[in-house]
Amino acid sequence: MCDTNTEATKKKVLSCIQPSGLLTLGNYLGALKSWVEMQNDFDCTYAVADLHAITVRQEPAKLRSQIYSTFAILLALGIDPEKNTVFIQSQVPEHAALAWLLSCYTQFGEMSRMTQFKDKSKKHPDNINVGLFSYPVLMAADILLYKSDLVPVGDDQKQHLEIARDIAIRFNNIYGDVFTVPEAYIPKAGARIRSLQDSSRKMSKSDDNANAWVAILDGRDDIIRKFKRAVTDSGSEIRIAEDKPGISNLITIYSAVTGKTAAEVEREFDGRGYGEFKLAVGEAVADELAPVKQRHDEIIGDKKTLERLYKAGAEKAESVARKTYFKAMKKVGFVL
Ligand code: TRP
Repeated sequence: MCDTNTEATKKKVLSCIQPSGLLTLGNYLGALKSWVEMQNDFDCTYAVADLHAITVRQEPAKLRSQIYSTFAILLALGIDPEKNTVFIQSQVPEHAALAWLLSCYTQFGEMSRMTQFKDKSKKHPDNINVGLFSYPVLMAADILLYKSDLVPVGDDQKQHLEIARDIAIRFNNIYGDVFTVPEAYIPKAGARIRSLQDSSRKMSKSDDNANAWVAILDGRDDIIRKFKRAVTDSGSEIRIAEDKPGISNLITIYSAVTGKTAAEVEREFDGRGYGEFKLAVGEAVADELAPVKQRHDEIIGDKKTLERLYKAGAEKAESVARKTYFKAMKKVGFVL
C-alpha cells in the first residue's frame, strides 16, 4: 500500500461557525457542504463558535436555542461525531484561557487594522466592546489549540487567519516550537452565493428582506417561493455572464446542489424561460435541504442524545486543547 494518508498522517483541519441567527443556503454551499466532504480526507475539528457570538448583544434564550440548533445542523449534515471532533466552543474553557495568554502577544496596532472590526464598529456604534476588538485573538486560540494545519476560511476571515499565523510565529520565536502555524485552505466545492434580491450583495441572514436569503431549515414551500421571486436580469437566456448577475447566481446555486457544471446547466435549460429555471432551482434546493431539516428536527427533539453528543465532543476536544494550553503556559513561566 502506498497510501500515506493514514490516520496518523492526516492533516488536521479546524473550522468554526457562529450560532448567530439562522444558517443560510450561503453558509451551506459556501462552507458547510465542504466541511462534510473534508471529513473523508482530513482529521477534522468543528466547533460552534458561541463565545464569538456575544461580541454583539444576544438574547439569552435565543442564543441558547441557536447553539443547540447549530450543533444539530452539523450532525444533520452528516458530519460524523465519532470520526471527527464536533463540539461547542464555550464548553472547552481552554479557548478563553489561551485567548488571554495570546492577547499579551498581540499588538493593539495590528488589531485596530482589522477590517471586520472597523466595519462592525460602524454598524454597532453603541457597543464597540473590547471583545469585538480582540475577537481575532480568540479565533487564533481556536485554531492553535488543535495544532491545525489547515483552516477553511472565506474571504472575510482571511485577515483573521493571517493574524493567527503571525501570533503563532511570534510565540514560537520566543519560546520554541509550541504552535503549529496554520494555512488557509480553499475547499474545492466552496461556492459564493449572493442575495436572491440584490446580486451585488452576499447572501446574509442579517438582510432585512427575508426573500433575499434561504435558511437551511426553511420548509419546501418557503424555499420555492423565494426562488420564484428571485431577481433576474434583462433578456431571457440562461447563461453565466457579467451582465446577468441574478441568473449567474442561480446557476451557481443549481450547479452546487446538483453537482452539474455551469455548462451542463446552460445546456439543460437552453431555450427554456426564467420562470421554469427558477422553479427548478427552488425544487433542487428544497430536495437537498429537506433531509437536513428532518434530521435536525429529530436531533433537537431528542435532548438526551443531543446532550450526550455535545458533552462527548467537548471532552474529546478538551483532551487535545488542554495539552497545547499547558505547554504554552509552562513555556511562559506559569507554575503547573
Ligand atoms: N470568525 C468566524 C466567522 O465569523 C468563525 C470562527 C471562529 C472561526 N473561530 C474560528 C473560523 C476558527 C475558522 C477558524 O465566520
